[in-house]
Amino acid sequence: MDTVSQPILARLADPVDFDGWRDQARRFVADDIPSEAIVWQVGDHLSDLFATVGPPPPVQVAIFPVPRAFIDLAQSVICHRDPERFALLYSVLLRLKRDSRALEDKSDPLIHRLEGLAKAVRRDIHKMRAFVRFRKTEDKVGYVAWFEPEHHIVRANAGFFVRRFTNMNWSILTPEMSVHWDGDVLCEGPGGVAGDAPQSDAVEAQWKAYYASIFNPARLKVGAMLKEMPRKYWKNMPETALVSGLIAGAQAREARMIESEIRPPLPAGEGDWNNVKTAAAHCERCALHKCATRTVFGEGPLDARLMLVGEQPGDQEDVAGRPFVGPAGRVLDEALIAAGLDRASLYVTNAVKHFKFIQRGKRRIHERPNAGEIDVCRWWLDQERRIIAPAIILALGATAARSVLGRQTTISTARGHPIALEGGGEAWVTIHPSYLLRLEDPVMAAEERRRFVEDLHAVRRRLEII
Ligand code: URA
Repeated sequence: MDTVSQPILARLADPVDFDGWRDQARRFVADDIPSEAIVWQVGDHLSDLFATVGPPPPVQVAIFPVPRAFIDLAQSVICHRDPERFALLYSVLLRLKRDSRALEDKSDPLIHRLEGLAKAVRRDIHKMRAFVRFRKTEDKVGYVAWFEPEHHIVRANAGFFVRRFTNMNWSILTPEMSVHWDGDVLCEGPGGVAGDAPQSDAVEAQWKAYYASIFNPARLKVGAMLKEMPRKYWKNMPETALVSGLIAGAQAREARMIESEIRPPLPAGEGDWNNVKTAAAHCERCALHKCATRTVFGEGPLDARLMLVGEQPGDQEDVAGRPFVGPAGRVLDEALIAAGLDRASLYVTNAVKHFKFIQRGKRRIHERPNAGEIDVCRWWLDQERRIIAPAIILALGATAARSVLGRQTTISTARGHPIALEGGGEAWVTIHPSYLLRLEDPVMAAEERRRFVEDLHAVRRRLEII
């Protein structure tokens, strides 16, 4: 009997079973099994009656190195609803076996298609973060939200809600699955229907009043608003009941504001940021505050898409109270310009907010913060990350990388590619600009500076596509 033409059935436990896909794909690719020979099947039911169940697992597994960028891409793409995603990813994996740079050809239709799927997933993840609205349950046990994602993003996104609403008991219900957090443990359950979640609650009136008060008519752009907040999400968002009225009244309100010179309310997040900054000014979480002049908090637009994280303020920053204004700051500024990044559009901060030094005569000599100081100070960085929620955080040097990633990291291995962050967004890692100031060999200094600018450039390009 001819079994060659029978497809191989590759079973996946669920629609986002990345591990299952990876383990089977590794085996297939080791045997050069063509993509057309495999049927990827989510769940138990057999959709292809002619498929042989499972591959006879080959002994060897793929041993070629797979670029990190592919893993990141695959983890996003797997959340897409496109039924062909498993086969498409496998086709790329086969190509990577022959050509480790296959992913770099962005004009290739297959790569282009996968990038498009990943982008749609990231967008859906962002929408869920922005548009989930919790409502308090009658029995007061917690909060429940109903949401209808376009893709299979609920599991990938749950960590964000855990971090953001750690102290609440909540459930997010979606048609496909639900996630529940009891302040301690996150668990998954079956999907539901909209009616399973409360349709309104007692705090809704307050929320609407708040929304109406922060609605700034001078900033209204109806087209942009509809693009950012598509109508299909409106039914679950209490404030949207106000939108048409607010839009209609926007011109009149704007005119009144100009006439009476009423200052528009602070943009969302600004009050929060001011509070955190003020609290940080009195920080005594470790001993570094005793010798430093002041806390040097981050600065920049609160809607920045890129956050730069340095190590700690230096001598001049400690005096000025602003990050990166000394010699390392000048190196950074030049490199940013060379990479086409506008510092004014970035949020710039440090992993450690106080200057650590030893006094030698009149000079204050920089000392590296230790792991304990970095970890204690991460509390402030986490607050900044929560408020700014940048698409990318660029860690400058090993201290920043430890703080951002929460683990010790080697620059040479972490550099040059995105690293997905648990709470959303991604991190990139590069050298600290002061490293360039320490290099004595001019040839090496020039080369390292070129690589630094290249890293910044890569981040800039990445910002354009995510
Ligand atoms: N080095 C840093 O890491 N941060 C600063 O703000 C200045 C120098």
